[in-house]
Amino acid sequence: MSSVEEMQSGLFGPDRSRQSAGADAGEVDAGEYGPTGRPLPDIPPAPPAPENTHAVIIAMCNQKGGVGKTTTTINLGAALAETGRAVLLVDFDPQGSLSVGLGVNPHTLDRSVYNLLLGREVAIEDVIQATATPGMDLLPANIDLSAAEVQLVSEVAREHTLKRVLDKVRHVYDVILIDCAPSLGLLTVNALTCADRVIIPLEAEFFALRGVALLEDTIAKVRERINPDLELLGIVATRFDTRTLHSREVMDRVVERFGDRVFHTVIRRTVRFPEASAAGEPITAYAPDSAGAEQYRLLAREVLLRCPGA
Ligand SMILES: Nc1ncnc2c1ncn2[C@@H]1O[C@H](COP(=O)(O)OP(=O)(O)O)[C@@H](O)[C@H]1O
Ligand SMILES: [Mg+2]
Repeated sequence: MSSVEEMQSGLFGPDRSRQSAGADAGEVDAGEYGPTGRPLPDIPPAPPAPENTHAVIIAMCNQKGGVGKTTTTINLGAALAETGRAVLLVDFDPQGSLSVGLGVNPHTLDRSVYNLLLGREVAIEDVIQATATPGMDLLPANIDLSAAEVQLVSEVAREHTLKRVLDKVRHVYDVILIDCAPSLGLLTVNALTCADRVIIPLEAEFFALRGVALLEDTIAKVRERINPDLELLGIVATRFDTRTLHSREVMDRVVERFGDRVFHTVIRRTVRFPEASAAGEPITAYAPDSAGAEQYRLLAREVLLRCPGA
């Protein structure tokens, strides 16, 4: 661990000693603040996995690229698997970064999620692969998926195609995470149609909030027209740099805008994440004791707290 990482290795940065929302004017609460500037609640340890599984499906969604969707899918998935959950990760981005990040070469895939969307003769069990993380499986994708965006347009009930595919394995997993493509096209609408919950990763930088209104609008439309049960599970700030005032200012704006929907857990910027992806591993395996691994474990606990029964 580098000395900088050691300095940051507590789960949260130094106490910001900010005034809590409920405090009397002039009174500065010296209590525990997380990087989101709010008092830290007690986040209980993960409860045991439920006995009868009916997977909660969570879409990782933001039409902006590079905000940490794929990194969060891999590492939240691995942290959930550590709690004993049976986890399926669905690569729903034609770039196949989720597959690559788990050590799968997308160019050599015989079958991918694409074949399940458009071919009725392929069984999902033959496409799902085990990963090196116990309890975590992968439904891989590659560039073929980009054709599905166009081909699905002429299908009947085109928004429900992924739902039909995943319904077949819902009883096998506790949690299914869908890594969406950086777009709000038909693929993402398919993900939102089968999801129970959405997580929006936001990069803690100046333009983070750009486009989020459009994303919220898309979620609202899918909820109204297709999937009334769809809910925003939370917003997670990623690539947060504790050392810059800028990251904190952005965080303040995000909390101002989204309030309690922002997860208390914040994922800090560290080169360990790209390193782990290059090694084809989740950070919980690549650097199990690192701050990054701990942050995703804490995020997993927050997710389970917000998804009772998962
Ligand atoms: N917390 C982090 N600290 C440093 N780099 C990160 C972090 N999260 C993601 N990255 C890197 O940023 C890049 C984009 O992340 P990625 O998860 O692929 O975003 P998206 O899926 O939204 O496009 C990748 O190179 C990834 O390794
Ligand atoms: Mg991605």
